[in-house]
Amino acid sequence: MRVDVVSIFPDYLSVLDLSLVGKARQRGLLDLRVHDLRDWTTDRHRTVDDTPFGGGAGMVMRPDVWGVALDDVLEPGAQLVVPTPSGEVFTQRHAEEMATAEQLVFACGRYEGIDARVAEHYRDAGVTVRELSIGDYVLNGGEVASLVMIEAVARLVPGMVGNPESLVEESHGAAGLLEYPVYTKPPSWADLEIPEVLLSGHHARIERWRRDRALERTAERRPDMIAALDVATLDKQDLALLAELGWVPGEDGAGLVRA
Ligand code: ADE
Repeated sequence: MRVDVVSIFPDYLSVLDLSLVGKARQRGLLDLRVHDLRDWTTDRHRTVDDTPFGGGAGMVMRPDVWGVALDDVLEPGAQLVVPTPSGEVFTQRHAEEMATAEQLVFACGRYEGIDARVAEHYRDAGVTVRELSIGDYVLNGGEVASLVMIEAVARLVPGMVGNPESLVEESHGAAGLLEYPVYTKPPSWADLEIPEVLLSGHHARIERWRRDRALERTAERRPDMIAALDVATLDKQDLALLAELGWVPGEDGAGLVRA
């Protein structure tokens, strides 16, 4: 997979040399290139921004500079990702879709963002353009958001994660639940014992216990995810526990509602 990042602070992306993504680059699984947007400017001051039409605070990034940069970097079949707090919220589903792309190009905006015609122009040209937010807070630019998305996508690329099974049960996987709590040695620590069942060797009971804890944790921390569960994927014991937690199948039978 090829990933290009265009930014006015290319050094911000230097952490991509480290850890899993860094190793994937060394092993040739990931062709990751970081570019300085100012390399595409032609004026003495290497200007990338200007004042907003219509007035208001801050500066907006110029579409002409972004246009020449992206024309150079985008390959056929690329997906263009524009991190922005006004985007759709990035989820594991986006990561899964993005992991199938041949090339991802991240356009990191600063200031008040990139002139809106840039996304429009590439969409009109047939490019898949994703304007994505990593959450409901405002960062100073798209660099950190790009790092977040690159890490989430890279670990889904085949060969990237040592043990692909570790991808299966994790939070935000297909089950639509948060992950159950996990424990390791020592069995007793700070007067806290690990749950007996995990020492029992009884796989069916362990699986049931984990599923119950996942349901409880999700109901407690992410009621929005409980409301979005498909009732058809829940067994009798799931439904019994959810009823204890105050959730019952709704009128239409498809989703769950608070009792
Ligand atoms: N740029 C600034 N804030 C952002 C956010 N929350 N997500 C993505 N890009 C951003």
